[in-house]
Amino acid sequence: MSKLKLKKKVMYRGIVVLIILIVGSILGLNFYNDYQYRQTYEYKLIEHGYNLEEAKKLVDFYKEDEILNSILLREKNTTIVELIQEKYYIHKNLERYLKYKDKNKDTTIKDVIAIVNVNRDYEFYEQDIPTDTSLGILINVNKYYTLPDDFEPIDISDISIRYSYNGNKMTKEANDAYVSMWNSAKNEGLTLIVNSSYRDLATQERVYNNIKASSGMKEADKVAARPGHSEHQTGLAIDVFEVGNQATSTFKDSPAYTWLKNNAHLYGFIERYPEDKEYLTGYSFESWHWRYVGIEVATKMYEENITFDEYYAYYIENQA
Ligand code: DAL
Ligand code: ZN
Repeated sequence: MSKLKLKKKVMYRGIVVLIILIVGSILGLNFYNDYQYRQTYEYKLIEHGYNLEEAKKLVDFYKEDEILNSILLREKNTTIVELIQEKYYIHKNLERYLKYKDKNKDTTIKDVIAIVNVNRDYEFYEQDIPTDTSLGILINVNKYYTLPDDFEPIDISDISIRYSYNGNKMTKEANDAYVSMWNSAKNEGLTLIVNSSYRDLATQERVYNNIKASSGMKEADKVAARPGHSEHQTGLAIDVFEVGNQATSTFKDSPAYTWLKNNAHLYGFIERYPEDKEYLTGYSFESWHWRYVGIEVATKMYEENITFDEYYAYYIENQA
């Protein structure tokens, strides 16, 4: 064999070896990448029955191995993907959301989250959770969260008869905020007047029992809190009307109510039992009942259009 032929033969062999090496590494790399991908949650979720888009959403949202593993331990359920896309989703409530949605198929995902977050998947007064009294102006009192029997608000002070009927009291901070709000309303030609505010346990008991005696328990529970469950006991709530517009049935149509709806948050007050939110608050619409929570929280609630029960679940309890 001539030297040239030998050289060519060596060269061809070299090329063949090189090609084998290249193809081998590509195959190897592909195999490796494939192996790596199979270790990802995206792949595992797809194997579990989710489509690529759903799998990506779950991975992006949950991030943590522990939670993703727990999702893999459940049967595939696309309701989970719908739930995590809602703003007020709270992971510890997942089981309850799924259960509620299963039983109430027509309820929207947004409502399922709101309802469960505020405990409305439980019967009223079934939970009796001692409320966190250290929260001050953000204390939550409703049909699930209870005040201790010996609860007394600090700094309770008389509301001047310029702004209220005689005998009304509320905490100092809320009282000052109310006076500020009263003055602004007055500048608009509206004279606000408080006709009920701080009520101690015994007074609340009387209020509730009177309504119960005249209208029955079911009706009473729509309009009055049972003792230990009323915001009026915190000294942070007022029933406010306008001089000349003091009927509970018509206050909602008054200019004062419209003004309060648009402005009360600027003074730290929120509408506590709004229209169409009975399914969350458990109370009929009370256009006159305003609760002090401070300007920051009131403004956020106003902007997000949520009830205090929803705010508490998501921004206070969930962040604790
Ligand atoms: N009317 C409100 C709900 C109360 O009794 O506290
Ligand atoms: Zn009230």
